[in-house]
Amino acid sequence: MTWKRTISSKALEKAVHASVKVDDKVIFIANVNGILYGMDAVCSHARCIIGELNPNELTVKCPCHHAVFDLKSGAMLEPPYVAKDAPKDKLGLRTYQVRDNNGWIEVDV
Ligand code: FES
Repeated sequence: MTWKRTISSKALEKAVHASVKVDDKVIFIANVNGILYGMDAVCSHARCIIGELNPNELTVKCPCHHAVFDLKSGAMLEPPYVAKDAPKDKLGLRTYQVRDNNGWIEVDV
């Protein structure tokens, strides 16, 4: 368990979500109604940065080919538009624990 500091809690609260660089990873973090989420921000299809958060469904859509990922599990819920037959279970994204530590958002990498 290695917690890494990212951005301030206030910045995430204002933005609702952000993509942050942690070591060699880019991680999508979100604050949805006070609950923090984190998962890989690099799409498993063709490496675009995901980022269209749907806070009601807790999903994130990739802007490139519209794959949709479950924010809680990282599972791919909708395949990329260009690869409808791709196996969904192989294209999920890793999720991370995220916490607020004294005003800073930290990710367990
Ligand atoms: S790169 Fe994300 S759906 Fe294609």
